Amino acid sequence: MLQCDYMIQIPRGTAYVLAGLAGVTVVTTGFLGMRTYDQNLQIESITKAAISANQKSKAELATASTTIASLRSDLDNVRNELEGIADEYRDERDKNEEFEDQIRDLAGTLDEFQKLNDIDEELLAKYSKVYFLNENFIPSRIRQIDDDFVLDGKEDQYFHGEALKFLEDMLERAKRDGHDLKVVSAYRSFDEQTDLKGQFTQVYGSGANAFSADQGYSEHQLGTTVDLTVPSVGGTYTSFGDTEGFEWLEKNAYKYGFILSYPEGNDFYIYEPWHWRFVGRDLARDLNRSSKTTFYTMDQREINEYLLELFD
Ligand code: DAL
Ligand code: ZN
Repeated sequence: MLQCDYMIQIPRGTAYVLAGLAGVTVVTTGFLGMRTYDQNLQIESITKAAISANQKSKAELATASTTIASLRSDLDNVRNELEGIADEYRDERDKNEEFEDQIRDLAGTLDEFQKLNDIDEELLAKYSKVYFLNENFIPSRIRQIDDDFVLDGKEDQYFHGEALKFLEDMLERAKRDGHDLKVVSAYRSFDEQTDLKGQFTQVYGSGANAFSADQGYSEHQLGTTVDLTVPSVGGTYTSFGDTEGFEWLEKNAYKYGFILSYPEGNDFYIYEPWHWRFVGRDLARDLNRSSKTTFYTMDQREINEYLLELFD
């Protein structure tokens, strides 16, 4: 039995157990204390490593940010340069397009000059006692009119090469519409007109001036004028104005570019329903639309504006 201050009496076996337990506790506590110490060391080391890694990341981030800023700045510079190049390219392209337009305009103008150069301005000039066609004027190209369209018994007839298709188309269409229009007289040279006027003068004296032009003043010398009739009337014309063939011409001739040069009440000659002049479809159409204006009341400058489209 152990004697204790507190008078607690513990059996000897128990005391040994307790002492043993106390020893184990001290050892265990010591051991745990050691472990905790190790763990603290480890935590401290990990924390340090983490702080160090964090600092390193921050530094790397800062470097990366600087790099990104630098790259962004480079990118901006490149973008600006590209925009500058694009502007220059656009300016160049605009200049080229402008230049191409100018070339096209110039080519168009040259084409028009060439076209005008190929068309005799006399073809739209007013003759009939207004202007004089000199004896050397002959159309640039004359072609024979298809015999089918010429009045039986008449010699071969010729017409301006560029205007012939309009005449033949018109006569063809009239035929299909039931009107057998025939050519009595078409192109007449200066000399032929001289002879013709001479013959008329022999018969009618100065009265011939009412229906026959002097040489150099006849539209027939242009090659674009034609006298038409129908077989029932024949070559003397006088009653052609009363025929359905004439009525058809009044309604349709403008579509083929023909006009009546001497309508009733004109200032130059008697009424000549047989005498048709080719002036081009544009001018013929405009004259057909107007009840007041006629070819001979138009200003010559205004007429000349139709020259370019004469054979269109
Ligand atoms: N019969 C017209 C006026 C001419 O001779 O030209
Ligand atoms: Zn005539």
